[in-house]
This record gives sequence, structure tokens and C-alpha cells, in this order.
Amino acid sequence: MAMANEELSTEQLLEAQAHVWNHIFNFINSMSLKCAIELGIPDIIHKHGKPMALSELVALSNISKTKALHVHRLMRILLHSNFFIEVNMSNNDKEEERYWLTPASRLLLKDAPLTVAPFVLLVLDQILTKPWHYLGEWLANDHHLSPFKMTHGMMFWEYAEHEPRLNNLFNEAMCSDTRLVTSVLFENQKIKQAFEGIESLVDVGGGIGTMAKGIVDAFPGMKCIVLDLPHVVAGLQETNNLTYVEGDMFQTIPPADGVFLKWILHDWDDEDSVKILKKCKEAILGKGGKVIIIDMVVDIYEGGDEAMEDQLFFDMLMMTLLNGKERSEKEWAKVFTDAGFTSYKITPAIGARSLIELYP
Ligand SMILES: C[S@@+](CC[C@H](N)C(=O)[O-])C[C@H]1O[C@@H](n2cnc3c(N)ncnc32)[C@H](O)[C@@H]1O
Repeated sequence: MAMANEELSTEQLLEAQAHVWNHIFNFINSMSLKCAIELGIPDIIHKHGKPMALSELVALSNISKTKALHVHRLMRILLHSNFFIEVNMSNNDKEEERYWLTPASRLLLKDAPLTVAPFVLLVLDQILTKPWHYLGEWLANDHHLSPFKMTHGMMFWEYAEHEPRLNNLFNEAMCSDTRLVTSVLFENQKIKQAFEGIESLVDVGGGIGTMAKGIVDAFPGMKCIVLDLPHVVAGLQETNNLTYVEGDMFQTIPPADGVFLKWILHDWDDEDSVKILKKCKEAILGKGGKVIIIDMVVDIYEGGDEAMEDQLFFDMLMMTLLNGKERSEKEWAKVFTDAGFTSYKITPAIGARSLIELYP
């Protein structure tokens, strides 16, 4: 039975208050991170090449000299959340605290090959954060497919088509994620095997082709087609084994031995996902063909509590921004059967995400 407040001990009451405060203020962690990236703090420390004092950081950044003490406060919270560490060094007999990078802040370096900075800047952009204020109102009424639509009057893809800043921010964020995924994907032999023997592959909703480039680099004999919306793929440079097709995956998917879908089906509800998968099935050429999906399978992950919590966050993100969801294995199985597929195999592969092979 739920306890009324007056039945809580003092210790329980204060613990409960701290828990609530912590959740109220969680957004401050996100926004402090965004601020550090915007100011280029990880880049400045990295370029310095050794632990850096606050005075040096302020001198080499575009931070106003009058704000040095405020930056100390920003760095204090980022130290707490393990984005930086503090190193004590003596300088001319003076003990000075200096900041240095952690593995997490190395991922925030703007020019690092595996940077996730574009993803941070996308998810925390005002266009994407505003719909969260309408989540309750959206749940309470029958209108609109998503809080995003309720806020902006159109679905996410339509907004991206008309707003080049969002389109670029989004494509850059997807590329940065895909570069990281590609760097770890083919180190896993089970994953590599899933692509072996495929001579032609269509990457549906493949964005500007970052994943397709990674796949043809790993499998040089393979021909890869990237299908995406016209405003995403128009004018991109093709190569011998990489071509782009402007189109709509709900209408036609170019034929190939294999169909690849990374971070596509979680954008859509079950009905639309079944429609997309039926089109994928039609596109598969001959026997032995398959669909390869990279997406989350809720409750299947590698890593600890953070990977598990990330699955819950992504599910809420898909509900708020799109009309999508993260699915459990049971939910995936129903979508696959409804689309006419006979069997599937899940390989936990990339932290919170899995690779799913789907057979007609
Ligand atoms: C979440 S992004 C994933 C991009 C890429 N697969 C990746 O993981 O980096 C979804 C992609 O689907 C594309 N898309 C949305 N609606 C589409 C449609 N009807 N037909 C083809 N592509 C579509 C978007 O433009 C976007 O590039």
C-alpha cells in the first residue's frame, strides 16, 4: 500500500525529496553538456595537449574574461558527471587544479572521427526539446500523431525538408552515429558473417551514405544502393559500387540481395513498419536474400544500467519526436510475422542496439 507523506520517516522524506530534485534537474546535465560543446571546451583542452588550468581555458576560448568563475561552476558539474577529471599540478610552487579529458569527453571533440557532438547538438536543439513540453497534453487528447507534430504543425521529416538547418543538423548527427557504429560493427565476426555472400545491398533510409560507404569498404565486392528522400540524397557523389536513389520506401525499394535498415523501423509505428517490411520483402532478389536491421530490442543489450536506461530514453524520444517506438522481442516478432517473414535471428551487437537478420 502506498504510504502517505506523513507516514514517511525523516530519512525517507529527505531521500524522496533528493530523488525528486535529482529528476527535476536532470536536464541541467544535458544543457551543461551542450554548453561545453558549443564553447568548444573539450576541443580547447585536447588541443592544449595536457591538463589545463581554468585561467588558460578562459584565455584560449571565446569565454568572456568576466565569466571565469562561472565557467568554474560549469566545469564542476561536468567533473561530477565524469566528462572531465581534475588533476592537481604544482606550478611555480603554486598548487593549481587543472582539467583533463575522460573517454566520454573525447567523444565530444568536434573533429574526432568518432565524435558524437552532432548527436548531442541535434537532440538538445530547441526544435527537438520544445515538443517535450506538450507530452502530457498530447497523451490527454486524440489528435496528432506525435508531440512534435502538435508543437510544430508538421511531422519531423516534413520539417527537415523545409528547414535546411534541421536537415543538416540531423544528417550530421546520423552520420556521426553511423561512423561510430561502423567502427565497431565489423570487428564482431558474427555480424560480419551476416553480410557475407550478399552481392547487392540496398540501404533503405540510408541518409547521405555513411553506413553504405562503411559496408562497401568492409566488403569491396558488394554493390550498395542508398535509398532516401530527395532532399537528403540529391546531388551526392556516386562511386563504382555506391549509388543513390531518391525515393519513398513506402512506394518502391530498389531490388537487391539484401535490404539494410539502420534506425528506420523505430521511427514508425507497427502499421507503417509492416508496410515498409512488405516493400523490403518485395525488393529481395532470389533465394537466400534477407533483411538486416540495426535497432534496439528492449531488454536485450550489452553493457550495464546505462545501456538499459538508454533504451527507455530512446523509446520516449521516438514517441515524442516521431510516431515510433523501441520494441521488445515479442513486439518485433509480431511485426515480422504481419509483414510475411518466416524467421529472424537477433545478435546483440552495439551496446544498446542489436542486429536482426530477417528471412522471407
Ligand atoms: C533515423 S534516420 C537513419 C539514417 C541512417 N539509416 C542512419 O542510421 O544513419 C531515418 C532516415 O529515413 C529517411 N526517411 C524518412 N522517410 C523516408 C521515406 N519515406 N523513404 C525513404 N527514406 C525516408 C530519413 O530521411 C532519414 O535519413
